Amino acid sequence: MLVLGIESSCDETGLALVEDGHLRDAVLASQADVHALFGGVVPELASREHLRFMGPLYDTLMQRQGLRLADLDAVAIARGPGLLGCLLVGMAFAKGLCLAGNLPLIGVNHLLAHLLVTGLDSELVFPSLGLLVSGGHTNIYYFSSPVEARQLGRTLDDAAGEAFDKCGKVLGLSYPGGKLLDALARRGRADAHLFPRPYLDNSNLDFSFSGLKTAVALYSGEHFAKPAWPVPLANADDAPQELCDCCASFNLAVVETLEAKVRRALDRYPDVRCLMVAGGVAANSLLRERMTDLMHKRGGVIHMPPMARCTDNASMIAYTGYLQYKAGYVHDLSLEAVPRGRAIPEDWHAVS
Ligand code: KG4
Ligand code: ZN
Repeated sequence: MLVLGIESSCDETGLALVEDGHLRDAVLASQADVHALFGGVVPELASREHLRFMGPLYDTLMQRQGLRLADLDAVAIARGPGLLGCLLVGMAFAKGLCLAGNLPLIGVNHLLAHLLVTGLDSELVFPSLGLLVSGGHTNIYYFSSPVEARQLGRTLDDAAGEAFDKCGKVLGLSYPGGKLLDALARRGRADAHLFPRPYLDNSNLDFSFSGLKTAVALYSGEHFAKPAWPVPLANADDAPQELCDCCASFNLAVVETLEAKVRRALDRYPDVRCLMVAGGVAANSLLRERMTDLMHKRGGVIHMPPMARCTDNASMIAYTGYLQYKAGYVHDLSLEAVPRGRAIPEDWHAVS
């Protein structure tokens, strides 16, 4: 079974082929440079870039693999959540392929796909918990199977990645700040008391990171000149020690907050033996270390994608589409894109 997956929900245009549950090939065009000029993703620019890249990337992938449309068994598309204009570019392309090739269309929840793609590297285990930590989301899920997931917690304000990026901005780092902040943190000494572990004094599995950003902004105002550095810092080698120490303290605060809520979720669902951690922030070195330790101490397993599949990619869409198809679920050409902030409906139907 050969499934083509298409990703265009934000600022990465990707296409990938998954064959019988194995990744056959993938292509990706990142727009990070375009948006870096503006300090964030500009939706209209992102849609235009998807439009520019989608066709050529499809041709590259199919030619590289010596495939024609008729060789595909299904097309999986990231239907949301995401930027609506961006989603619609991928959706129109996917529907066009399905119409031309008389192929089934499979709508994939981009968020669940981030977690389920761990199945490309290790066998998925159910029930499992999923911690999704990306630029736009911080969610905890309970998965009974690849097609049955229940959201247990979410962020009430900033997502974990957003907190990294906003703190990066406050500290004068180039955008997006998460990866560099992680690198700086590795060179610094963390002070566990410098920043709070926000929103733990409750009994829920939700998060709130906006106060942490304010704490870093206050600290930065008191300790660093304004602007902190003449040009945004892009390289860890140029960083002063006090900045590295501040990054290490912030990094520790975010990671320990995530860890506390995941531990709480694991205590509540003792049937769970597997934790999946994914999304851009899953590339964070301390988070990977702490989550691995946590599961090993509990005698469970941890699944995290390799770095290249932590951020947006089409392999996760093709693989999740494959899982849905195998479970007997598809959509039709009436499939709708779902913008950020709206729930993804389970409107699939049985494979006929
Ligand atoms: O999953 P993703 O590509 O975006 C969304 O789909 O939202 O994740 C991007 C986010 C950005 O906020 C970026 O700063 C963050 O992931 N990120 C990191 C690291 N690498 C990327 N945050 C912390 N540590 C990292 N190593
Ligand atoms: Zn994503």
